[in-house]
Amino acid sequence: MQNFNFFNPVRIIFGRNTIARLGPEAAKAGKKALLVYGGGSVKQNGVYNELTAALKKSGVEWVEHAGVKPNPVLTHTREGVKKARENACDLIVAAGGGSVIDEAKAIAAGAKYSGDVWDFFCGKAAVKDALPLFTVLTLPATGSEMNAGCVVTNEELAQKYSAHGGALFPRVSVLDPETTLSLPPAQVANGAVDAIAHLIESYFTTADRDVAVTDEVVHALARSVVAATTRILKDPKDYDARASMMWSATLALNGLAGCGYGGTSFPNHVIEHSLSALYDIAHGAGLAIVMPAWFKVHLEKAGPERLEKFGAAVFGVKGAAAAIEAFEKFFRSAGAPVRLSEAGIPAADIPRIAKNAMGLITLWGMKLTQAEVEEVLRKAE
Ligand code: NZQ
Ligand code: ZN
Repeated sequence: MQNFNFFNPVRIIFGRNTIARLGPEAAKAGKKALLVYGGGSVKQNGVYNELTAALKKSGVEWVEHAGVKPNPVLTHTREGVKKARENACDLIVAAGGGSVIDEAKAIAAGAKYSGDVWDFFCGKAAVKDALPLFTVLTLPATGSEMNAGCVVTNEELAQKYSAHGGALFPRVSVLDPETTLSLPPAQVANGAVDAIAHLIESYFTTADRDVAVTDEVVHALARSVVAATTRILKDPKDYDARASMMWSATLALNGLAGCGYGGTSFPNHVIEHSLSALYDIAHGAGLAIVMPAWFKVHLEKAGPERLEKFGAAVFGVKGAAAAIEAFEKFFRSAGAPVRLSEAGIPAADIPRIAKNAMGLITLWGMKLTQAEVEEVLRKAE
């Protein structure tokens, strides 16, 4: 087990009827919020009304920044920074999925910085300060509600890059599983695939194979995601399955599931970000395509040990090949695409996708070559 430094300062308020509790929490940080949300799901499912009533009751005014796109884009983020500055907002409130929370984080940092917010993503500047951020999560997937990262796409350059820094941790995140009852099945699937992806990256890329406690955390969370997804797709009103999914996805990327693994990397994510930068596909869908292919390469290069262990513990199957099949079967059963062709991406584009991935690979200091990325993508044809 490798040394680690685990820190997570995010207060989580979890459960039914908890959105109202964000009001007093936000009021501790400021008087005027930039209220960030997406294409309108929060208006349809009642989250917007509950949240704005809570802010009003606590004496917090707000300026709206709506229209965050899934795979949030730089131009809209820059508009948010401008709005936060012009209106002298002293806090940010975000309601939605990972895209909304990520853009809100970027705005929170951008508002406290004199340069361009993209500087944080392209490695030109480090995030040192940010406006305090409060979130209401409506889509279990990314873990953004309890971590210090965010992902934004520079649509002009087709670069989907990330920024990180302790100042980006939300102060408080409300997780009310009832807000997820309105999710369409495709988003349930995307969220499940993403949570699984967060669990497997460090598990499979660690060089340390004797970190029993974290292996067990990963197995348990992955089993919980698989079980909850199956229940939700069968009965979308199943509150306890929604609750289990929500907390599992948060725990999958809040730092816990990587403790003790030492130096690990995110190869599936780095390849997926190139797919969503170029084709604007959902992050979960892109990961469902990349992961089975990446596992096939992993099996050839690293041997069967990890796949056998994960497959037995999570899917109850024997052998590495059966584990890869079980991943694919789970992704398919949730309705996710598992081949490039199923997402309408031609095999002829593989060199272009791999070339585009090299930007983030360099920024993240990974050893992956363009030929190796192509090798993975060929197995996803
Ligand atoms: O825009 P609205 O109207 O809100 O609709 C959204 C969007 O269309 C909808 N939705 C969200 N909650 C809903 C709902 N619809 C009905 N009922 C609800 N309760 O779902 C659609 C997708 O939302 P989005 O926020 O894009 O999905 P997700 O949470 O999967 O976030 C994906 C983004 O997060 C990044 C991804 O790359 C992608 O850009 N990631 C962020 C990470 C992080 N910050 O740590 C890590 C991840 O690996 C990932 O890269
Ligand atoms: Zn992810």
